Amino acid sequence: MARCIVTRKLPFDALERLRAAHDVEVWRGAMPPAPDELRELAAGAEGILSMLTDAIDRELIDACPDLRAVANLAVGTDNIDVEYARSRGIAVGNTPGVLTETSADLAFALLLAVARRIVESAESVRRGEWWTWEPAGWLGYDVHGATLGIVGPGKIGEAVARRGAGFGMRVLRTGREPGPGRVPLGELLAESDFVSLHCPLTPETRGLIDEGALMTMKQSAFLINTARGEVVDTEALRRALESGWIAGAGLDVTDPEPLPGYHPLLGAPNLTVVPHIGSASHATRGRMAAMAVDNLLAGLAGEPMPSPID
Ligand code: DGY
Repeated sequence: MARCIVTRKLPFDALERLRAAHDVEVWRGAMPPAPDELRELAAGAEGILSMLTDAIDRELIDACPDLRAVANLAVGTDNIDVEYARSRGIAVGNTPGVLTETSADLAFALLLAVARRIVESAESVRRGEWWTWEPAGWLGYDVHGATLGIVGPGKIGEAVARRGAGFGMRVLRTGREPGPGRVPLGELLAESDFVSLHCPLTPETRGLIDEGALMTMKQSAFLINTARGEVVDTEALRRALESGWIAGAGLDVTDPEPLPGYHPLLGAPNLTVVPHIGSASHATRGRMAAMAVDNLLAGLAGEPMPSPID
């Protein structure tokens, strides 16, 4: 039996399989462990089932000399120093694939919500402000027939592209290889009515959507971010919304994350923010937990993880 830690309470059956095989300690806090709390929890651990809110960095890895396997409950792995973990012989896995369609649903839901002003108009009804039908009330933008620009078309980007095609949208994509609808980022930003971000957070993509990028977008265009908050320069986005460089934004991820209620970005108009719920369906989070447990069990058994980070 190996000592394993799980950094948040997981209300999914999969955890029982881990408990049956190993000595499991679960962090009981409502908030994620702070770095020093995580180091204390992980001391002596051979396996960690981590969340995207946990920094599995050099310091943590150095504090865990027995660590052999890390299974992240996310497809994104920017919270893990993967290179360093590998150099220490630690197996690292994630949960790709199972959340693709669920995350794409949320990206498209945000796109529809901001285009058709669903959140703000629904809030006005709750405030008792539905006085009458107005010819020019709550005007938004058409989604059908519009141009959708997918930045970083991996699996989730392609799933969003399929949804766009189903709505009769013209789809553009960034990407290294030539292919249908593939254009350089600048052209995509200039031509798209909706720019949807689906790139991983890397040194190259950090701050990719900066002031210049936002100014390249059409004034009638919307930015959708379900990738990672740090891909967008938050202050530049606030200025873009307040100055009308773009028409609006829908965010599932933010920088900082969580975004505190007093953050200046929340004062910007035409903005819908949801709290990183891209993969949050009952079925998908259950599958992610099962996959993370499978990864950890394999890593601790010295076998290849079913979903190693490639
Ligand atoms: C991931 O898995 O990286 C997602 O952001 C979680 O919703």
